Amino acid sequence: MTRLRGEDLTLAYDERVVATGLDVAVPDGSFTVIVGPNACGKSTLLKALARMLKPRAGAVLLDGKAISSYRSKDVARLLGLLPQTSIAPGGITTGELVARGRYPHQRVLRQWSVQDEAAVDRAMELTGVRELADRPVDELSGGQRQRVWLAMVLAQQTSILLLDEPTTFLDIAHQVEVLDLCADLHEDGGHTLVAVLHDLNQACRYATHLIVMKPGRGIVAQGDPADIVTAELVRDVFGLPCRVIDDPETGTPLVVPLRRQRVAVGGTAPQLSQVD
Ligand SMILES: Nc1ncnc2c1ncn2[C@@H]1O[C@H](COP(=O)(O)OP(=O)(O)OP(=O)(O)O)[C@@H](O)[C@H]1O
Ligand SMILES: [Mg+2]
Repeated sequence: MTRLRGEDLTLAYDERVVATGLDVAVPDGSFTVIVGPNACGKSTLLKALARMLKPRAGAVLLDGKAISSYRSKDVARLLGLLPQTSIAPGGITTGELVARGRYPHQRVLRQWSVQDEAAVDRAMELTGVRELADRPVDELSGGQRQRVWLAMVLAQQTSILLLDEPTTFLDIAHQVEVLDLCADLHEDGGHTLVAVLHDLNQACRYATHLIVMKPGRGIVAQGDPADIVTAELVRDVFGLPCRVIDDPETGTPLVVPLRRQRVAVGGTAPQLSQVD
């Protein structure tokens, strides 16, 4: 059984239809990665899977039931979403923001518990933000802030995590750290992860299941990166001429853009090469 799936989804904002006929099944326990050019609908799909956007048609199913039939708090206990952009309430500290991840677990009149404290502490430890606990979130750097939001989602302790560009703003070492943490969560913790990434090579390294989207065409390929990532696919989806070789470290597909073709035009600036 697949705990989280979308069936024949039409996703739209008012007049703007982003995608139609999307069928997506997130394999249980997978590290699923969604890739595709800007504006192809990655965030829109993630929002629909997290019940933040109601599909115009079709349905998202969680544990076999329409996600629209759940209470919000019940969804939040099963599934956590790190949106692409989030704005922290003014003046809130890191510790306070991470603690908000525990809201779905709070009951009326129930006090803050040792379990809550432990979940917050663990999330801050895993994301390396403990030393920022007392700092106001709006005074942090972009990368620090990104890790604080991730800590908040981890503190929610859901078995399914949807992360929209969790590595944005992070330096390369912190990118790898966050992706390794995601890999640990799915390998050791049995979590199911769905992340949107822009770096195709990182996507190929970490994804156990890759979903490739193209503007106006929805999902054009799904599967093991080794089976689906080819130079033709990258050229078709991104318009990028490239070679795909084996990553020397992991053996997964490595996308290497071709060197630019310099076209001198009467001694003036070179033109961008045309790809279609
Ligand atoms: N709130 C909104 N209202 C109206 N249109 C929207 C809204 N959010 C996104 N869109 C449009 O929907 C389309 C898909 O947007 P989406 O944010 O899903 O793209 P994306 O694949 O996540 O892109 P990126 O890589 O830039 O994050 C775009 O054309 C975008 O302009
Ligand atoms: Mg997006």
